[in-house]
Amino acid sequence: MNAQISRHSTKSQLFASLSAYLEDLQESGIDGIPPELMEAGIPDVSVNNVSEPVLESVVDNKQLITSEKHEMLEQIIKNLGACQRCKLGATRKNLVFGVGNPDARLVFVGEGPGADEDAQGEPFVGDAGKMLNRIIAAMELKREDVYICNVVKCRPPQNRPPESDEVAACSPFLLRQLASVKPEVIVALGTSAAQALLQTKVPISKLRSKFHDFHGIPLMPTYHPSYLLRTGGNSDSFWSVWDDMIQVLQLLKLPVPVKARKK
Ligand code: URA
Repeated sequence: MNAQISRHSTKSQLFASLSAYLEDLQESGIDGIPPELMEAGIPDVSVNNVSEPVLESVVDNKQLITSEKHEMLEQIIKNLGACQRCKLGATRKNLVFGVGNPDARLVFVGEGPGADEDAQGEPFVGDAGKMLNRIIAAMELKREDVYICNVVKCRPPQNRPPESDEVAACSPFLLRQLASVKPEVIVALGTSAAQALLQTKVPISKLRSKFHDFHGIPLMPTYHPSYLLRTGGNSDSFWSVWDDMIQVLQLLKLPVPVKARKK
């Protein structure tokens, strides 16, 4: 905690960030400090400022083991409960939390559940999910190796992009989810995920192809699998995504499979 305090230049900044953190916790349905955060140190959840070390204290905690990560994720699900913190709660069938390895080195973050995901309660199980599975398989990884979640946990009507109040309501939970898994790399799939995580309005075409800092975790924005469904599995966009995934594999020091573009 002391190390965190010393990073703040003024008492008022510290007070503001502590107040914001407590408000976020309250909105997340937490009345007390979760034990896992007490042990790890309270993160500075000034969620909206990428340059602040929001997740640092949790991300820096190298001690978390898989079962603890699993428990932390379960606790977030409990805190979400039958969430009605934004208007998406009224129309969803299922809250779609996340799936995969709680100890994953790589996390994919999408926009929000579609109809198939809403029906099944699992992210990326429809057509976009098949495209994502194809990308994961091309990286010679399995879906169970990685962790997959979305910016918002409930389906926006007619699959529209989530609105800012919906993103804001879900953000504390996404942050805790990412802090629990503590991946080495995050891939933001599409505009909504990249812009929400990086707090920017810069288009995905300008964000992609390089790593950005997400509170100490390298984040690679890339095109959304749904976009690839529209452009085709051999399109320039498809190969751009592959170029981005090559960088991800290299950062993770994993083998980079050779893929030849069809003529
Ligand atoms: N699109 C997303 O962004 N997320 C899903 O889970 C499914 C489709």
